[in-house]
Amino acid sequence: MAYDVAVLVGSLRKGSFSRAVADNLVTLADAALKLRMVEIGDLPLYNPDLEDAPPAAWTRFRDEVARADAVLFVTPEYNRSIPGALKNALDVGSRPYGKSAWAGKPAAVVSVSPGLLGAFGANHHLRQPLVFLDMPVMQQPEAYVSKVGDLLGQDGKFINEDTKTFLKAFLAAFATWIGKTK
Ligand SMILES: Cc1cc2nc3c(=O)[nH]c(=O)nc-3n(C[C@H](O)[C@H](O)[C@H](O)COP(=O)(O)O)c2cc1C
Repeated sequence: MAYDVAVLVGSLRKGSFSRAVADNLVTLADAALKLRMVEIGDLPLYNPDLEDAPPAAWTRFRDEVARADAVLFVTPEYNRSIPGALKNALDVGSRPYGKSAWAGKPAAVVSVSPGLLGAFGANHHLRQPLVFLDMPVMQQPEAYVSKVGDLLGQDGKFINEDTKTFLKAFLAAFATWIGKTK
């Protein structure tokens, strides 16, 4: 049976390149993986005071992550780090204390940028909380999608066969990684 993979996109904007890349990944995955989007844009900012009556969006999000076999992060870089919305989602999923939705789930990171550096800073900053959240992150291959505007057509699909081939191999390696770590 295919592994159920929760996909989190770090950008909230309509027309997001990262969202387009994530949508492409859904179609590039082979039968070993079923990629499922988990939305983060409606999550109230994490505040422990709200745990007595958690917002419905937190509960929905925690449930959707908890039932996944693995997590795939697709994120842009904001000021050389991850967007605040994605950090908030990590925090929301990590609580209440002792009931983290993330613990033990294998993860992979795809970072996306219109610039040349492929959001390297975001990719590596994201790995820091994932250590504490006890998520074994695939180390190789790494995925830094640079100059993303040149890789997507008007319809939001990749126009470049090399990119598709690389990301298919990335997803196949992730399936192997999930199998090893679960
Ligand atoms: C607040 C902010 C900070 C940004 N900082 C960076 C950065 O550090 N590195 C980078 O490559 N791009 C940076 N950008 C540009 C984003 O890469 C670009 O807006 C990209 O399209 C965002 O991803 P998205 O298309 O998925 O929304 C920044 C954009 C914003 C809005």
